[in-house]
Formats: sequence, structure tokens, C-alpha cells
Amino acid sequence: MKILFIGDIVGKPGREMIKENIEILKTKFQPDVTIVNGENAAHGKGITQKIYKNLLEWGVDVITLGNHTWDKKEVFEFIDEADHMVRPANFPPDTPGKGMLFHEVKGRKLAVINLQGRTFLPPLDDPFRKAETLIEEAQKKTPYIFIDFHAEATSEKQAMGWFVDGRVSAMVGTHTHVQTSDERILPKGTAYITDVGMTGPYDSVLGVETGAVIRKFLTGMPVRFEIPEQGRTILSAVFIHINETSGLADHIQRILINDDHPFFQ
Ligand SMILES: [Fe+2]
Repeated sequence: MKILFIGDIVGKPGREMIKENIEILKTKFQPDVTIVNGENAAHGKGITQKIYKNLLEWGVDVITLGNHTWDKKEVFEFIDEADHMVRPANFPPDTPGKGMLFHEVKGRKLAVINLQGRTFLPPLDDPFRKAETLIEEAQKKTPYIFIDFHAEATSEKQAMGWFVDGRVSAMVGTHTHVQTSDERILPKGTAYITDVGMTGPYDSVLGVETGAVIRKFLTGMPVRFEIPEQGRTILSAVFIHINETSGLADHIQRILINDDHPFFQ
């Protein structure tokens, strides 16, 4: 099974980048399933129903979320019916939406799990113990299990990678918006990367217009963060190949598209 995962879509530039590149990426990598993190898709904060539908129309199969899940209030109106979207599974019990889904791929099932870290992020239930419970549940149905661990701290993401090694097909990190160059297959067979990186404005600070962020650092005053609508863009992703029999990974490859890293088809 082949998986294409595209990192945090930031605002309109990120959505345009997906729209323009998804077919090119699919032609080159021939993924069976395409997953994106969409928690910053609506002007940097949250997701709307329109964006959810657009992403599916453009060829995305599953959308993962994170700490900005609730930022667009309309999410409460559609999250329970959004069969192709997961929010962090370690939100408290009875939170709307779901933290794991099963996506059908040519008669096989891929479990997609979303978790959120607790270091430098709002307090949540334990993502490690939640991972354990969900992996056991998923393993009853399929050997193909994918985790998006949306977390700030590199250490927390690395620890999760080692914790789930050999029990899931892949664990990728999201949230920090900068791609790390540590993609690898862990010793027991799980594909891993600390952070996939973001998809959106390239000349920015994590997707935000640079002037406002510099002003905040210079003055310590509250500033309004805007997503630059014009300008150069970046797309960050990983391609993962999973062994059909074992459900463990054979290969993980980083994808980075921007003016400094042109994409060769
Ligand atoms: Fe985030």
C-alpha cells in the first residue's frame, strides 16, 4: 500500500498549492491513499465545510486535524458527518468527531489515527496510552495503520515513534511547519518523520506574514497574524510504501517543493 501524506495546509496559498500539485504528485508516486493535515486550511485556523469538500473533490482521501480543530465554529455543524476527517483522538471522551477512521483501499483497510502532543500545547488526555488503545482496536481489523501525531516537541514525537515502532505502518509528525530531514524506517518497521512540514506561503514565518511576527518579537505586543495571499509557495509531504503482507514500511521519502527545491516529475 502506498501513502502520500501532505503536511499542514496553511490558508488559501496552501489550498491552491494542493489543487495545482496533487495530480502531478499522484502521477509520479501513484499513491493508493492521499492524506493531508488540514487544521490550518481556513486562513491559518481551522477548517470549513466548503474547504473539507473541496479537498475531497481535488483528490484527498482523508484529512487530519490538530490544535486548531475548533477554531472555525461551523466545524461543530459537520464534524460528526465528516466521514473522511479525524481530529486528535486524545481529546476528552464525548468530544464531537472521531480520532480514528478506516479508509477502504482496493479491498484493504487503512486505519488513520490523529493524536495531539501535550508538551507546549493545551492539556489533553495522554496520547501514548490513547495510541495503545487505538492500535489494539485497529489491529483487530487491519495491519495497515497510519498515525499523524500533531505535536510541538521533537522529543515527544520521537518518543511516540519508538513507542509505536513495529505496531503501526507509519507515524508522521505535524504542527511545527518546518520539514525535518530525519525520515527513516525504525528498527521494527515503522516509517517515521518528526515533522512533515507545511504547505502554504514560503516567504513567511510558519505560514504567517513576516512583518507582524517580527513586530511581535520586537515589541511583545499583541499583533494580528495574517496569511500572505500573494507570493511564493511551498509544499511539504512524504511518500510511504507499506509491505502488503506485514503492514510494516519498506520506504519513506520526503517531498519538498519550493523555489529552492524545484520538483522534478
Ligand atoms: Fe497545529
